[in-house]
Amino acid sequence: MQALKKKKILLGISGGIAAYKSAILARRLIEEGATVKVVMSSGAQAFIQPLTFQALTGNPVHTDLLDPAAEAAMGHIELARWADCILIAPATANTLARIANGLSDDLLSTLCLATDAPLFVAPAMNRLMWANAATTANCETLASRGVHFFGPGEGFQACGEVGSGRMMEPEDIRDALIASLNSTASASELALSGKNLLITAGPTREAIDPVRYLSNHSSGKMGFAIADAATKMGASVTLVAGPVSLTANPDVKRIDVSSANDMLDAVMQQVSTSDVFISVAAVADYRLEEVKEQKIKKSDDTMQLTLVRNPDILKSVSTLPNRPFCLGFAAETENVEEHARGKLKNKNLDMIAANNVGNKDNPVFGSDTNSLDVYWPEDGHSKIPSGSKHDVAKALLELLTQRLENTE
Ligand code: PMT
Repeated sequence: MQALKKKKILLGISGGIAAYKSAILARRLIEEGATVKVVMSSGAQAFIQPLTFQALTGNPVHTDLLDPAAEAAMGHIELARWADCILIAPATANTLARIANGLSDDLLSTLCLATDAPLFVAPAMNRLMWANAATTANCETLASRGVHFFGPGEGFQACGEVGSGRMMEPEDIRDALIASLNSTASASELALSGKNLLITAGPTREAIDPVRYLSNHSSGKMGFAIADAATKMGASVTLVAGPVSLTANPDVKRIDVSSANDMLDAVMQQVSTSDVFISVAAVADYRLEEVKEQKIKKSDDTMQLTLVRNPDILKSVSTLPNRPFCLGFAAETENVEEHARGKLKNKNLDMIAANNVGNKDNPVFGSDTNSLDVYWPEDGHSKIPSGSKHDVAKALLELLTQRLENTE
């Protein structure tokens, strides 16, 4: 069995002679089933060509923080989120110092700051550099923050000296990584493996005529963050997205839709294979009774549009005979608990996550942060404090996992 199957490893290479061994390391990781993307510092490129890693991994090699072409393909924040772990081999004294001090003036150090994935380093440097008090202090700082060290080993060094500072052999790094990932995989990381999650996100657009529509301010960030977190917890995720300008985790199956009726159709096509339905989308409650085929011309000072109710997608799912576990959202501006509990009951839900969208300082819609009050039947309640939508998504899924176990 491949020990790194489906693992997404970001291999960081900094500028030391041991960089040539990183090519073998990339190979060994791929042989174990990992997908490997490589980031090289400018120093590393003096020792080995990016093309070598591109050929070995089948993926473009990332080298610059401010490269518009690379950013257009996969921005550095997405790259940081993509990774299940970051492995820096070789990690030079300079790289260790930069990460310990939180620098972000090149791509590799920026990724280390921007990720919440575990970070592994395989130091490689001259024995005196390794023994230097500054390096020791940097390593202690990193270790205290949870960075895992592989080596260095002892022996003959490229500079002709003998001592501690050699990069561990690629096979030893591979084995140490496998052992470490196995031991650090927390219960929550695997909690949704084997589960199919269906998630809606973003707004819907209800056409008025060929150039106008009714919609709302949902950016899709909350739903996309949940899709990303669920994927990282092992779930297979289908994301039905209204019109948003976001990139989904590449492991997510994404279906783009526009109107509420389109969203309903897509959800109904997917729901029979879903264990959990999470309805984050801000679905328009009404649509135009009649969509004009031609652009409406200005005439009187006022005009009237007749709206009709849209289907309730969440309720259509929660009232199915073999329905999945249903988690709804409630965007409220007042009496949050009362309104959220009302929807929990009326929509026949297992859980509802209420966000207060009436706070001018944090309108939630479009924001990068959120906080939630989560309710479930029989007076169940839990608060998820303010944090990034990614952190809130993770906390919400951990709660959902507990509730799911209780209802199975
Ligand atoms: O996208 P962001 O900018 O990150 O913002 C996130 C969010 C504020 C949109 C999100 O956190 C949120 O609260 N989503 C639900 C918004 C909403 O429409 O709430 P509601 O109270 O109107 O609807 C209650 C529930 O019924 C929701 O789960 C909604 O998806 C669902 N619904 C509503 C109407 C409808 N016709 N069909 C539905 O399925």
